[in-house]
Amino acid sequence: MNMSEDIKSWALEIEKKIINKMHPVILRNRNVIPYTTENGNFVDLSSKDINWWTNGFWGGILWQMFVLTGEDIYKEEAELVEKKLDKVLMDWNGLDHDNGFKWLPTAVAHYRIDRNEESLNRGLLAANNLAGRFNIKGNYIRAWNNWGDVDRRGMAIIDCMMNLPLLYWASDVTDDPRFKHIAMEHAQMAMKYFVREDGSVNHIIRFDPEDGKFIESIGGQGYGVGSSWTRGQSWGIYGFTLSYIHTGEKAFLNTAKKIADYYISNIPEDGLIPVDFRQPKEPHLEDSTSAAIAACGFIELYKALSKSQEASENEKYINSAYKLLKVLSEKRCIWDEKVDNILEKCTAAYHDEKHEFSIIYGDYYFIEAVMKITGKELFIW
Ligand code: GLY
Repeated sequence: MNMSEDIKSWALEIEKKIINKMHPVILRNRNVIPYTTENGNFVDLSSKDINWWTNGFWGGILWQMFVLTGEDIYKEEAELVEKKLDKVLMDWNGLDHDNGFKWLPTAVAHYRIDRNEESLNRGLLAANNLAGRFNIKGNYIRAWNNWGDVDRRGMAIIDCMMNLPLLYWASDVTDDPRFKHIAMEHAQMAMKYFVREDGSVNHIIRFDPEDGKFIESIGGQGYGVGSSWTRGQSWGIYGFTLSYIHTGEKAFLNTAKKIADYYISNIPEDGLIPVDFRQPKEPHLEDSTSAAIAACGFIELYKALSKSQEASENEKYINSAYKLLKVLSEKRCIWDEKVDNILEKCTAAYHDEKHEFSIIYGDYYFIEAVMKITGKELFIW
């Protein structure tokens, strides 16, 4: 990989800042699973909502920090997170399309490090449940379970592309291709129904769960129907790139490039990413998580293309990753060691009441992106 020295030396500097910041943060945050902060302090979500979809990311940060520093405290805390999630494995209603987000950065990361049987067991239970959500009518992995009065049986979402690597991993470790086949069918479906002609993506597609026929696309966490929720774009870039990495299927690579090119052409001059590329000018709402996730996708796209004959067109992806990450590090990172979170101005959904706060997966993907550049990342997906 021929990455410019400027980018590498920038990433090494940021990596030092991450290590300096995370050391006091871990010392004062034991036995927790944070989602966000209040007054700069992590709030533990594990005692309130152990099923929440983001509960794997703190484990992922801890494993990345363990790999980076070799300090046992990170491993010990990561193992606690993994054990806490066993409660979710015993709750069918806590298991859903996000099994990958919960167990790839926890049990599977642990298994990749020391090949232990308990973590393998957890990962495979989660993968089997994820595979069981596949609807052969419509070829989609069902998103969410039902709550309230909304019928979600026919819903699929772009975010699910990031959960497919749990299925690729399960096929690798069991030598049983069923998991991979399901993942590839879902990815083929997503190419057809989620990715628009211009490279923007839909958030939610609803099918008839009985006959698999397309019913509608839904705006979901973005501004509205036909809009362009930026984190959804990022899940698409990174998710299709991962499906290419795991399968070698060229169509997935081309789809990742299409979404990536659309994203790059919409990055504002200041490099700060809105919640939706098609949101009204006012209020100006940002989502730093989208930038961090897109950067991870761009770096992997750059690496994948560097191995193929298309190496000449790859520079724009690494340069875009660098642009996004540099802006985040200068304008949206809190390096004060007394504050628990790194990224600020993260937004879960455009129409939520609360916007622009700290969210754990923003920190996770920022750290992952920096470690991808320095070459020290634990590959989790
Ligand atoms: N997977 C849900 C989200 O990105 O907010």
